Amino acid sequence: MPALSTILNAHPTGHHFLQIPGPSPVPDRILRAMSLPTIDHRGPEFGVLGLKLLKGIQQIFQTKEPVVIYPASGTGAWEAALANVCSPGDHLLMYETGHFAWLWQRLATRLGLKAEIIAKEGTCPQTGLPNSWRNGVQADLIEARLKADTSHSIHAVCVVHNETSTGVTSDIAAVRRAIDAAKHPALLLVDTISGLACADYQHDAWGVDVTVSGSQKGLMLPPGISFNAVSQKALEASKKATLPKAFWAWDEIIEMNKTGYYPYTPNTNLLYGLHEALNMILGKDAKAGLAATFARHQRWAAGVRSAVNAWGLPTQCADAAVYSPVLTGVITPVGVDADAIRKIIYERFDCSLGTGLGKVKGRMFRMGHLGDSNDLTLIAMIAAVEMGLKLSNVKLAGSGVQAAMDYFSA
Ligand SMILES: Cc1ncc(COP(=O)(O)O)c(C=O)c1O
Repeated sequence: MPALSTILNAHPTGHHFLQIPGPSPVPDRILRAMSLPTIDHRGPEFGVLGLKLLKGIQQIFQTKEPVVIYPASGTGAWEAALANVCSPGDHLLMYETGHFAWLWQRLATRLGLKAEIIAKEGTCPQTGLPNSWRNGVQADLIEARLKADTSHSIHAVCVVHNETSTGVTSDIAAVRRAIDAAKHPALLLVDTISGLACADYQHDAWGVDVTVSGSQKGLMLPPGISFNAVSQKALEASKKATLPKAFWAWDEIIEMNKTGYYPYTPNTNLLYGLHEALNMILGKDAKAGLAATFARHQRWAAGVRSAVNAWGLPTQCADAAVYSPVLTGVITPVGVDADAIRKIIYERFDCSLGTGLGKVKGRMFRMGHLGDSNDLTLIAMIAAVEMGLKLSNVKLAGSGVQAAMDYFSA
């Protein structure tokens, strides 16, 4: 391993292709906005900024309910969601779609909650990978489990909207319908850390009680801020919940947010970045801005998938109905180490791809199509992957670069 000073002083020409599924490439507009001088977070300008941000972020979550902004990574917002609505020993039903669903479950257990895992059973015969990590949330399994819980001991259902470890975007409205069909009072908690501002997400219309998200994916910001969007039902639950909460407690923050301020020092320069991101995404007409954002990511994802299909490699997501618009997971042939391919692509072509996490480590890599991207940056990523696959002696059925060029130029 070279010394840190050597690594930090290495300046390859051109710029690095950061094609991991977040942190995503940050637009120059946002970087410039963040470079403005830090202001007094208790002064008059901050209140104006704070109120504007809180209104804008509600539009991103498609909610009229409060959205709490934390100076923390997504993991903090996961903890905040649970700490606010749960009491020690509360029973959670957590659906395992992949590594992040699993990590959230681990966090819940560490908080002293009883986290029951539910997942699609079985193993995919072609790849040997768990079916649950190749598909979305099966709402019927949740419905059946809730119906069996006649004593209503399950306090909350937790699901990941866009599973970043696999590239699957689950149907959250179907989960809501399943809870309603079971006539179960459980809260619905959803992680859309990597889905927000890429894939359609409707906190209010889908009846979500707490939505967890972060800055470093669709919002195109660096890591460091995260969110809880909170329903009235969740606010009520938080009044009775007894897990210890201080920094994460919604009540004080929401109270001070009425005038645009925070009970602690907020992440001022990242908030400048958020201000710029909201301008970029929402524009003058929030509805149109969001629709264009979702369509852009769907198109990028389809272009990238056309390349993967042309190579003849399977995508990690096995169900076309839930392909992620944010990232595409690519399964490598049995015996070919996906991380070795990533290493070649990084060292030879200065392009970072997402590693396989947890149960799919070494079996797949992830191509991000979010953030400050365009058709050509994606074609460059696809070219880097194609060259890396060839250098790794992976037999390809055809040219993914050609397929993507055909798709993007159609
Ligand atoms: C779906 C999902 N949930 C949770 C997290 C954890 O967030 P963080 O790494 O910002 O703490 C991530 C991070 O990539 C994620 O993609």
